[in-house]
Amino acid sequence: MTRPPSGSGAGSPAGRPARLGPAELARARAAAARLHEEFADESDEWDALAESADRDSLTDVPGGVRLQKVLAAAGVGSRRHCEELIGAGRVEVDGEIVRRFGARVDPQHQVIRVDGQRIPASEDLVYLAVNKPAGVLTSMSDNRGRKTMADLLPDVAERLFHVGRLDYDTEGLMLLTNDGELAHRLAHPRFGVPKTYLAEVAGPVPRGLGRQLLTGVELDDGIASADKFRVVEQVAGRALVELTLHEGRKHIVRRMLAEAGHPVSRLVRTQVGPVALGSLRPGGTRKLSTKEVGELYAAVGL
Ligand code: URA
Repeated sequence: MTRPPSGSGAGSPAGRPARLGPAELARARAAAARLHEEFADESDEWDALAESADRDSLTDVPGGVRLQKVLAAAGVGSRRHCEELIGAGRVEVDGEIVRRFGARVDPQHQVIRVDGQRIPASEDLVYLAVNKPAGVLTSMSDNRGRKTMADLLPDVAERLFHVGRLDYDTEGLMLLTNDGELAHRLAHPRFGVPKTYLAEVAGPVPRGLGRQLLTGVELDDGIASADKFRVVEQVAGRALVELTLHEGRKHIVRRMLAEAGHPVSRLVRTQVGPVALGSLRPGGTRKLSTKEVGELYAAVGL
């Protein structure tokens, strides 16, 4: 039978703890303190990670729709592209960046932004551009039987708001939506959304007309001025001029040009904020793009 060698284990007698001298004890204590500090640093990181995971889960609405699906349905891009945007931290829900693909959100009530720009997430919301012809009333019904915007949009069952008004004889871009807050802000003078008009007037127009309109003309309800003005064309006794204004008093363009001595014979609105009439045919309708709706939201601070 072999006996265990006596005095095994780090040169100390078996069963007895090693005795440290004062210097070794001080070194051991310093090492323990360093370890403690390092651990505390790391645990801060863990806390931060746990907190961000919590924040992600806060956006998880029970019964909600997956974020990448909402983004893709809103026209941001393919699901895969939307996942890349989420992974890159470019998507916000109610002001929180969400990096988790599976996050479930409520597109009806939550504000979703990509690169800071709001997207039209709710599939119930409709945003349309219409090219209103002359001889159509900017309303949804008329008790005198005149043609209205509803005649141009027979298939849209939702209740739409027209954003501001155009005169019966004015043509061009009208925005329609069932997004009440956006419609209200776009039409409200406080937000000063610029609108651009092409006006056919008796010509030729003098050089000073632009300066006069930019400085302001006196109307019976106060001064009105244009933000931009240019002469587009002059032919045989008539001129085409373009004006941009950020206010919407009744008949404002017609009254300004009449006051300046150039009554309007035809008026077309070509732009509202970021949305252009483009090549939309008279009476035609198109859906606004995700980008256009995002830019409209941005124009009125939504
Ligand atoms: N200014 C007008 O005079 N008429 C319109 O319809 C719009 C702006």
